[in-house]
Amino acid sequence: MLAIFVLIMMSTLVTAKDAAAIDFVINFIGNENKPSDLVYGGLCWGKHAELNFVKAAKDKGVRASGSLNTRVAYHEQDIIFLADLDCNGSHEFLYNASSKHLFRFPYRWLVLLSSTNEAKLMYLWRIPLLITSDLVLARRYGDFFELVELHKPAPSGSMITTPRGFFNGSLIDIRPQKELYRRRRNLMGHHLTMANIIQDSNTTKYYLPRDDRLQLHHDAVAKVCWVFAKVAFELLNATPRYTFSYRFGYKVNGQWSGMVRDIGDNKADLGKRYKL
Ligand SMILES: *[C@@H]1O[C@H](CO)[C@@H](O)[C@H](O)[C@H]1NC(C)=O
Ligand SMILES: *[C@@H]1O[C@H](CO)[C@@H](O)[C@H](O)[C@H]1NC(C)=O
Ligand SMILES: *[C@@H]1O[C@H](CO)[C@@H](O)[C@H](O)[C@H]1NC(C)=O
Ligand SMILES: *[C@@H]1O[C@H](CO)[C@@H](O)[C@H](O)[C@H]1NC(C)=O
Repeated sequence: MLAIFVLIMMSTLVTAKDAAAIDFVINFIGNENKPSDLVYGGLCWGKHAELNFVKAAKDKGVRASGSLNTRVAYHEQDIIFLADLDCNGSHEFLYNASSKHLFRFPYRWLVLLSSTNEAKLMYLWRIPLLITSDLVLARRYGDFFELVELHKPAPSGSMITTPRGFFNGSLIDIRPQKELYRRRRNLMGHHLTMANIIQDSNTTKYYLPRDDRLQLHHDAVAKVCWVFAKVAFELLNATPRYTFSYRFGYKVNGQWSGMVRDIGDNKADLGKRYKL
């Protein structure tokens, strides 16, 4: 008799915990106020809670599914991924997403983790969450969730934690502005590399970084763009680096060359293109 009672107690406890998580996630997505397609992976909430979750999402006009269904057309900017680090399956979900580069812009992420599970934070520290990444970590204290945003100013940089608000039944959002590009403006001196195109003269390699206005008739547009790019780098508190290419690039057999390739291969962060 006692055993049955304990069993019932436990199952209601689990359900209550998941109900709070479901309520929170639905509120979080509602607060985003954007079209959203929710994709979750590795959840261990049980079939019943998962069904409740999908239904609650659907009632709010949000499509939720357990994998990226390739037969459905998604808009990348609408996708929000959900992982629960308290579930072991979510580690693999994060790993898979990382190898598919799904932590970059414009994907959004919501990751749940209970406050007592400190050790699992290491799964997040490894992810390349760069300055345009949009990941919110929700630490769970019973039915209360504390929200922080995570990002790194550079792949080698340390993780920056920015408070985002909390959920106590209502979602309290403390972001001064919602747009990331208005809030993430400090690269803390990390490098950004611009790719420059030389077409007129190789003396440009010498004069351009010196910014000395000599031989301006060679690669004039590249030299003007350089000045603008430098102002942008200063605004972002980035340290400039540069590379030179001899052409913008062509696509041959599916492979790009020139500046486009440098950007694709992450040898450069910024390419400059102009139209005369
Ligand atoms: C998750 O993995 C850890 C370590 O491998 C194990 O101790 C724990 O029982 C697992 N939890 C679940 C819910 O499977
Ligand atoms: C991770 O990727 C593998 C291989 O594509 C797949 O079999 C597995 O189900 C994925 N795991 C999760 C949790 O998404
Ligand atoms: C949640 O927090 C807000 C802001 O601090 C407060 O006004 C509200 O009463 C709280 N709600 C509950 C249910 O505690
Ligand atoms: C500059 O040097 C590179 C590498 O030696 C060469 O391929 C290119 O044709 C030169 N460009 C000009 C404009 O002289």
